[in-house]
This record gives sequence, C-alpha cells and structure tokens, in this order.
Amino acid sequence: MKPVTDELVWFNGKVMPLSQAKVGLEDRGFNFADGIYEVVRFYRGKTFTLAEHLQRLVRSAQAIQLIVPADIEDLARDVRQLITDTGIKEGMVYLQLTRGEAPRAHAFPEKSRPTLFFYARPLPEPWKPGRGEGCRLLSAVDDRWHKCWIKSLALLPNVLAKNHALSTGHDEAVFIHEGKVTECSASNIFCVRGGKVLTSPAGPKVLPGITRLVILKLAKKLGIPVEEKAVGRDEAIACDEVFISSTTRELNWVREWDGTTVDSGKCGPITRALHEAFVAEVKAETK
Ligand code: PDD
Repeated sequence: MKPVTDELVWFNGKVMPLSQAKVGLEDRGFNFADGIYEVVRFYRGKTFTLAEHLQRLVRSAQAIQLIVPADIEDLARDVRQLITDTGIKEGMVYLQLTRGEAPRAHAFPEKSRPTLFFYARPLPEPWKPGRGEGCRLLSAVDDRWHKCWIKSLALLPNVLAKNHALSTGHDEAVFIHEGKVTECSASNIFCVRGGKVLTSPAGPKVLPGITRLVILKLAKKLGIPVEEKAVGRDEAIACDEVFISSTTRELNWVREWDGTTVDSGKCGPITRALHEAFVAEVKAETK
C-alpha cells in the first residue's frame, strides 16, 4: 500500500496529494464538529448507491444550514474520477463538508468558505453471506443527541461506546434509548422474529442508513415482511436472528449480544438470504 501522504484528495475542487491539503486550526469542523460526512462504497472501481449517499449529504447539509458548495452531478463525476485515478478497485470514499474557517465564535460566521474534501481508501472484501465469525454486540446507553438522522461529524458518543465495546472483547456497541434498541455506533440493526424483519424507524435516534434502505427494498422484493418498529433490548436478544448493516460491513450476522448467544451462534436463513440478495444487487449495479 502507498504511504498515506501519497494518497490523492479532492480538496475544495482540486485534486492534490493528501500531504498538500491543509485546513486551518480554526476550521469549524475542527472547533465545533460543525460539519457532516458520507462514506460511499465502491466495488471493482464502481460506486454503489452514490446518488443515494449524495442525496443524504444534501439533506444533512440543509439540516445544519449549509449548502453543498458543488453541483451534485459534478461531484458524482469527480468522485468516480478520483476512484479511477487512484486505481483502487475495492474500497470506500470518505467525504466531509464543514462550515469552513472563521474566528472561533458559536454564531455562524457572516462569511466563510465551506471545506469540502474526499479521498478513496482500499477496504478488505466484506464477508461472504453466512461466513465470518459473527458479531459480538454490547449494549450502551444512547447518550447521543436527538438528530441522529443527520450524518454529523460529532461522533464522540459513538467513538466512546465503540471503544468500550472493543476493550471488553466485543465488536460493536448497540445503543439503547428508554429500553428500546436504536442503532449501533456505526451501523443499523435488524432483528428477525417469526420470519418478520424488525428495525427501528429512521429518525431522531436512527440514521437512515443507505445499506438499511437497500435491505428494506430487497426484503420487499423477496416477500419478507418488514416492520419499522423499535424493539426492547431483551426482546431483541431473544429474536431468531439479529444482523447489523453499514456501507463498509454490508450485512453482518450477530453471534452474541451482552454475552447471550443469538440464534444458536449461527447465521440465520433470512439474514443469509438478504445478504445474498444484497451481493446480487451490488453486482448488478457495479458490473
Ligand atoms: N457509518 N448508523 C450509524 C451511526 C452509522 O455511523 C452508520 C454508517 C450507519 C449505516 O449507514 P450506511 O448504511 O449509510 O453506511 C448507521 C459509516 C460507515 C462510518 O461512520 O464510517
């Protein structure tokens, strides 16, 4: 792999080596986490659900009174071009938008130029459906704000919950709000009970994940019933199957939750069927 400094970055409209792209100490993303981001997956050098990610970027930007400082069609073209220029085949694009640099004050600056950048990084191939060891989850109090539908840079509660999970031998933290399961530190969560898929509705405590969106669409196509409903923690752990989803993980089946084995420690049939359908969808879109 090339050293990190040799990576290319698209930075405020120009492509340059990452080492040359500089942001001032007073960038509001740095001072206030005043910004948003996206993570887009690409396979065989082709983006998956790029339009959906850019639509969510626009929605997140509007929610914090920012305007994406680029035409979305042009941005999509530039994302694809950067992937081609890097030569990376399997990976992700990280895209970040902040309110830009201004003397530190809580009030929005009268004038500031937003900082927009993205780069592409390689990712290992995701687990094939049904493979891997399965995820071990740890419950965490959902102490985040109530606008989790915005893909905000302010991820400290997620970072702390994730690291607590990792340091205690788990893979991912699941947030619990007023006894109900919301989402994980960097993924959405689904349960399967009696053949029906249950997942919390997107909103104050749940990001409208793009992978989640694709899964809901595929469930419909496969005739698998879905209910968008918050489930209690104990109820969820006792479900037949549990899986989590994100752009970087695709679908990941859950083996254990708070030390209790889920679905006899195997990947269940509905999780597997949905993951197989997901892989087929990726193939169709990125061929
Ligand atoms: N995270 N919920 C949270 C809190 C997330 O951070 C993510 C993704 C998801 C899944 O969304 P999507 O399917 O659109 O990736 C749900 C990304 C991958 C990250 O922060 O790196």
